[in-house]
Parts: sequence; structure tokens; C-alpha cells
Amino acid sequence: MNLFQSLLVLVVAGLAAAWSPSNSYVPSTVSCPDDIVLVREADGLSHNETEWLKRRRPIAKEALHDFVKRATRNFSDSSLVNRVFGGNESHSPVVAIGASGGGYRAMLSGAGMISAFDNRTNGADEHGLGGILQGSTYLAGLSGGNWLTGTLAWNNWTSVQDIIDNTTNHNSIWDISHSIINPDGFDVFGTANRWETIFKEVRQKHKHYNASLTDLWGRALSFNFFPSLSEGGMAYTWSSLRDSEVFENGSMPFPISVADGRYPGSSVISLNATVFEFNPFEMGSWDPSLRAFTDVKYLGTEASGGRPERRGECVAGYDNVGFILGTSSTLFNQFLLRLNTTGMPRVVKRIIGHFLKDLSTAEDDIAIYSPNPFHDTSYVASNYTNSLVSSRDLYLVDGGEDAENIPLLPLLQQDRGVDVIFALDNSADTSEYWPAGASLVSTYERQFGQIGKNISFPYVPDEQTFVSEGLNTKPTFFGCDAHNMTDLSYTPPVVVYIPNSRNSFDSNQSTFKLSYSDSDRLSMIKNGFEATTRNNMTDDSNFAGCIACAVMRRSQESMNATWPDECKRCFQNYCWDGRISHNGSRVQQNNDYTSSFSSSSSSSSKGGASHLYSPRSVLSLFAFVVSVVGLF
Ligand SMILES: *[C@@H]1O[C@H](CO)[C@@H](O)[C@H](O)[C@H]1NC(C)=O
Ligand SMILES: *[C@@H]1O[C@H](CO)[C@@H](O)[C@H](O)[C@H]1NC(C)=O
Ligand SMILES: *[C@@H]1O[C@H](CO)[C@@H](O)[C@H](O)[C@H]1NC(C)=O
Ligand SMILES: *[C@@H]1O[C@H](CO)[C@@H](O)[C@H](O)[C@H]1NC(C)=O
Ligand SMILES: *[C@@H]1O[C@H](CO)[C@@H](O)[C@H](O)[C@H]1NC(C)=O
Ligand SMILES: *[C@@H]1O[C@H](CO)[C@@H](O)[C@H](O)[C@H]1NC(C)=O
Ligand SMILES: *[C@@H]1O[C@H](CO)[C@@H](O)[C@H](O)[C@H]1NC(C)=O
Ligand SMILES: *[C@@H]1O[C@H](CO)[C@@H](O)[C@H](O)[C@H]1NC(C)=O
Ligand SMILES: *[C@@H]1O[C@H](CO)[C@@H](O)[C@H](O)[C@H]1NC(C)=O
Ligand SMILES: *[C@@H]1O[C@H](CO)[C@@H](O)[C@H](O)[C@H]1NC(C)=O
Ligand SMILES: *[C@@H]1O[C@H](CO)[C@@H](O)[C@H](O)[C@H]1NC(C)=O
Ligand SMILES: *[C@@H]1O[C@H](CO)[C@@H](O)[C@H](O)[C@H]1NC(C)=O
Repeated sequence: MNLFQSLLVLVVAGLAAAWSPSNSYVPSTVSCPDDIVLVREADGLSHNETEWLKRRRPIAKEALHDFVKRATRNFSDSSLVNRVFGGNESHSPVVAIGASGGGYRAMLSGAGMISAFDNRTNGADEHGLGGILQGSTYLAGLSGGNWLTGTLAWNNWTSVQDIIDNTTNHNSIWDISHSIINPDGFDVFGTANRWETIFKEVRQKHKHYNASLTDLWGRALSFNFFPSLSEGGMAYTWSSLRDSEVFENGSMPFPISVADGRYPGSSVISLNATVFEFNPFEMGSWDPSLRAFTDVKYLGTEASGGRPERRGECVAGYDNVGFILGTSSTLFNQFLLRLNTTGMPRVVKRIIGHFLKDLSTAEDDIAIYSPNPFHDTSYVASNYTNSLVSSRDLYLVDGGEDAENIPLLPLLQQDRGVDVIFALDNSADTSEYWPAGASLVSTYERQFGQIGKNISFPYVPDEQTFVSEGLNTKPTFFGCDAHNMTDLSYTPPVVVYIPNSRNSFDSNQSTFKLSYSDSDRLSMIKNGFEATTRNNMTDDSNFAGCIACAVMRRSQESMNATWPDECKRCFQNYCWDGRISHNGSRVQQNNDYTSSFSSSSSSSSKGGASHLYSPRSVLSLFAFVVSVVGLF
């Protein structure tokens, strides 16, 4: 028995809790009803989401009411609060949070931002916005932001505070002091073992299904997110969240992960890309170019028009959590590919190249969903090409590649009735890797194209104004007055924009920095908390009250209720006033990936990430690759 076989035995024996029917990464066949239809038209919320909301809404309402009461306790008049929360829950505000992409920068800074909304964080009730997270209904993540939301949701809704408190334990969540490429640091043996396991699992899947680099990437990531599970959750499925108690009973928000569709044979991703969402029940798109959702649990089933090709037989276990988290972040496939450009020994390049070629033909930065669950479905709007549904494979890419780096589209669906969105922006729009509102501008523009006509989004200024007016250095509200937006297709939510900005730490780290020391990780999180709370309320002691005003705004407008003086002052301070200003100077674009992909998805000549690879880590990479040569 070689090392690898004994490893496999250990793995199989250690599987106490298995979610995938095969107990492994490999999908397998299960029986399902003869008449099952796996796809539906995207003509409203799914039955399951609607049912789930009935359990979530009363819980969210109570938590939100508690926050608002606390935040407005100094207001001279509490009649608005009483009116907004006095009726039944179908009148209370619907809150959503969207966490942007941007690699580990976005994951960590975003974690600090979310922790400011979480009443489980030390100090969040005293000098933060604790309770907003408990009061929110939707929580969307994209790329690095979906690593964050996915980690929380699929770890039994753990908290950032819990993760921080565990930092010193071995194998804790987000132990990213070593990069994914070299997870065990100088323990070359450990590193090689892990990659052996990963290569082996992906090869097994690839025997029956087209696999892609995203399979490797997603598996590797999972070890950072699900360290308590066997092999980083190789058998852990996305749909298993439905059966987890904390989700089932409505104690957490509805998690959504976003990716973009890519037409077969095309490598261009634009604002016109079809935007996909994965939620615990379904994956698919609201866009007219697809207009369909499929049951995420049975991804991998060969089907036509949503009907399995073999009656009574479905596939399960394809929806591996890491694979789906990796799908939203395929941009980082570049990370593996760049190994080729960083002066590595040729033999290593050859091995990696060989493995990659085996996976897919020159489709490096995509996730392949094969077979295509939407094959031969008939919901595409008449103006759109059918190539997305006529193809045997479905290609998905990083959710930020259409230049919308904050996952807002799922939260703007009118059927979801969201009243306020907290848009957490950890993008790198400027040359110094700070955000400058580029993602908001894109989402704003998309609504005026054919593909966005069912979406409404508030007016926002251009990037230059974001920078010259400092809208990217402190929280700013957009869409404050519903009556200013009657031109749009419906009244959009208020958008509370929370940009990454410097408080106690230089949080403008490179998107491709893939390891953080424990202390830098903590500093990133702390800075995110401060950026969200006006420096723990020291810059504005009324800030929590202002957030409460933003939360209640749409309800107040629809009831034509009296708007408190305190809220008027808040809105003067925090609402964008419609002004456009250019200091003469353009925003200098960076060449980091989060904002440079809008024209072509694989412009890998841009950006200079070679500094990421210290000679030493390349050496140990070399060692592990050599040690897995036997696999080929
Ligand atoms: C947080 O809020 C929830 C919902 O309101 C409440 O049940 C819970 O006890 C709170 N937790 C803490 C630590 O305050
Ligand atoms: C809440 O209000 C809505 C609309 O006014 C109504 O349809 C619903 O039955 C009410 N629910 C409860 C629990 O009273
Ligand atoms: C702000 O609050 C957070 C959370 O309580 C804390 O970790 C951080 O140290 C505080 N920052 C400052 C500058 O006090
Ligand atoms: C979630 O909790 C259940 C029950 O306590 C446990 O079996 C499971 O391993 C936990 N899942 C994760 C990802 O920690
Ligand atoms: C914290 O660490 C302990 C011991 O290593 C582990 O059992 C637990 O699951 C960890 N919790 C989190 C949230 O990481
Ligand atoms: C929706 O819920 C029903 C009943 O619980 C279940 O049978 C079905 O598989 C669910 N479908 C999806 C897509 O979650
Ligand atoms: C890596 O570079 C070599 C030659 O420079 C090339 O043949 C190979 O295809 C490249 N591999 C990848 C994965 O791009
Ligand atoms: C799409 O169809 C609608 C009506 O069916 C038409 O008004 C619109 O101009 C068409 N758009 C394009 C881009 O063809
Ligand atoms: C997007 O589609 C619109 C038509 O709705 C077209 O005018 C525009 O050129 C397209 N943009 C890109 C970047 O393909
Ligand atoms: C309420 O007023 C007290 C006393 O002026 C002040 O210390 C406190 O920070 C205020 N609370 C809020 C939420 O504004
Ligand atoms: C809203 O209330 C104000 C006074 O509070 C009143 O003047 C106005 O006509 C009302 N508007 C609507 C649409 O009911
Ligand atoms: C909205 O309209 C009010 C006047 O009704 C105006 O003062 C305000 O500047 C407008 N806001 C924006 C963002 O255009």
C-alpha cells in the first residue's frame, strides 16, 4: 500500500458525516421521481424561498426592531419606529447585505464590516451596528466576498468573533498564514499530501464529468474554510444547508453566491453577461438571456428541458460547497496559471501544464458545469441567443468579471422587495487598491441596457466624483428620495455604500495577496469594523441612528409618515446630494484584476503579481509537484 492509498483509506474511514451520496467529491446517481422537472421559469420567487421567508421574516423583524430602538433612543419622537415596526412583519423593512469580491482583502475587510453588523461581536452593540445582520433577510457574496459569506453560512452560521477567538488553535478557519499553493509552509510533505488528495479527487470526478481548474481551486480553498470537516469538506454539498437547523428554522439570512455566465466560444465578459445566483435551493438567472432556475441539489444530471434523460435517475453530490465557492472566484484560477510566468523551473511548468490540459482545453478561467442543467430549456426571451441553452456544457466565471464587483443583482429583484442594501465594497478601483464606486456605476448603467430592463438601481455619480467628493472614504447613502427616481422602472432600495478605507490599518492590500499573518488578518478585520462604524462612532456619535433612518426610509415613504428631524440631519450628512464634481484629474485605474477584467477575461499580461512568489515558496512548490509526478 503506498502513501496515497493509505491516505485514502483514512479518509474514507473518517467520514462520519457524509453529505454527498458517494461520501466523496465525486457525484453519484440517486433515484428521483419519474416525473421530476428540475428547471423552472424564473417568473417569481421559488416556492421554497417563499416558505422559508415565512420563518425568517418574524425573526428578522424582531432583531431589526431591537437595533432600531437602540439606535434611535435619543430621538425626540419614536412614533416613526412604532409605525414601521408596529404592523405585521410583511410591512417591516427588508434588509440585504452584499459583500464584494477582491480576494482575501475582500474576505477579511468584509469580515470586519459584517462583524460590525453582528451582535455576537464584542462591542458591536456599544460602538457598532450590532443586530443589523440578525435583522437582515439576504446575504450575498461574490468571489472573495463569497468566501466570507460561504464560510459563515456553511459552518453552522458561525460568527467572525468566533473565528477570531479561535485564531490560535491549530487548523482554525481562515488560517491563511501560508498560501493555498503551499498550505503547510515548509512542511513539503504535508503540502504534497494535500495536493495529492486534491488531484486524485478531481481526477475521479473527471472520469465521468468534464472538470476544470475550478475544481482544483475550489477544493484547495475549502481547507481554509471547512478545516473541521474531512478533507476540507470534500463531500460537503451546497444543498445540505437546507437541512441544517440554523437555516431551516430561519435563524440566519438567505445566502446567495454570484457568478457570471459565458457564452460558448466567447471569452468576452461585459455588462451584458448573464448573471447567475446560487442559493440553498436553486441556481440560475433572472436575466432575460436565461430566465430559469434549476434545483441545485441535482446539478450534474443529464437532462433536456429539465427532464432527466434517464427516468427516475438523478445525480447528486455535484454541488460541492468548495466548487460553488470557487465558481464565484474563478478569477483566481489565474493564480494557478501564473505559476507559469514566474520563472519556475521548466519541469514544474510542464507538469502543471499537462495536468491543466487534461482538465480542459484552454478554458482555464472558467468553471464547467457539465452537463448543462438548462439544456434545451425554453425560457430565454425571444431577443436573445439560445446558445446558452443549446450547449451541452455551461460555463461560469468569476462574479466580478462583468465589472459588477458587488453582488447586487439578486438583491434588486423586485419580487424580493428589499428596502435597503448594505453594499460592502472592498474592490480595488484605484491605483492604490481602494474602491471608487466602479461597481455601483456598472450596476446603475446595466439597468438601461436590454438585459437590465427588469432592474432598478439608484442614481450614482461617476468614479471621479466618488474620489473627489470623498464618497469612497466613508459610508454614503444612495437613492435617499424615492420621488427623485420615478423615471426608473420601480423604486429601488436605499443603498448604503460602505467602502474599504483606512482607519487603523492599510487595508488596501493586493487582490492577489494570498497569505496573511495572524496579526495582519486581525488588523484587516478590525479596520473593516472601524470603516463601517465611522471609527467606532468616534467620528459621529449619531451614526447608528442614521443607519436606522436608512433602514426605515422606504417604509416611511410608503406610509407617508413624518420624517424625524434627526433623520433629516442624517440624510444631509450621508446622502449623495446629486452633485458631480471633477477635480480635473481622472481616477487612475489600477492594473489589479478586480477592475481590469471588463474587456477580456484573461488578460494575464496585466498586473504584476510575481512578487507573490518568494523564491522559497516556489521551491517548495517544486518539491511537491515533483512528489506527485507518480500520479501522471
Ligand atoms: C443577538 O440578537 C438575537 C436576535 O435578536 C438574539 O436572539 C441574541 O440573543 C442576540 N445575541 C447577543 C449576543 O446579543
Ligand atoms: C399582514 O398584512 C398583510 C397585508 O396587509 C396580510 O395579507 C397578512 O395576512 C397579515 N399577516 C398577519 C400575520 O397578520
Ligand atoms: C473598534 O471596535 C472594535 C470591535 O469592538 C475593536 O476591535 C477595535 O479595537 C476598536 N477600534 C478602536 C480604534 O478602538
Ligand atoms: C454543524 O453542526 C453539526 C451538528 O452540531 C455538526 O455535525 C456539523 O459537523 C457542523 N458543521 C460544520 C461545517 O461545522
Ligand atoms: C475552534 O477551535 C476548536 C478546537 O480547535 C474547534 O473544535 C472549533 O470547531 C473551532 N471553532 C471555529 C468557529 O473555528
Ligand atoms: C422544495 O421543497 C420541497 C418540499 O420540501 C422539496 O421536495 C423540494 O426538493 C425543494 N426544491 C428545491 C429546489 O429546493
Ligand atoms: C506554460 O508555459 C509553457 C511554455 O512556456 C507552455 O507550453 C504551457 O502550455 C504553459 N502552461 C499553461 C498552463 O499555460
Ligand atoms: C426586443 O424585443 C422587444 C419587443 O419584443 C423590442 O421592443 C426590442 O427592441 C427588442 N430588442 C432588441 C435588442 O432586439
Ligand atoms: C450590450 O447590449 C446592448 C443592447 O442591449 C448593446 O447596445 C451594447 O453594445 C452591448 N454592450 C456590450 C459591451 O456588449
Ligand atoms: C444618546 O445620548 C447620550 C447622551 O448625550 C450619548 O452619550 C449617547 O451616545 C447617545 N446615543 C446614541 C445612540 O446616539
Ligand atoms: C403626506 O403627508 C403630508 C403631510 O404630512 C401631506 O401634505 C401630503 O399630502 C401627504 N401625501 C400623500 C401622498 O398622502
Ligand atoms: C432629490 O430631490 C430633492 C428635492 O426634491 C433634491 O433636493 C435632492 O438633491 C435630490 N436628490 C438627488 C440625489 O438628486
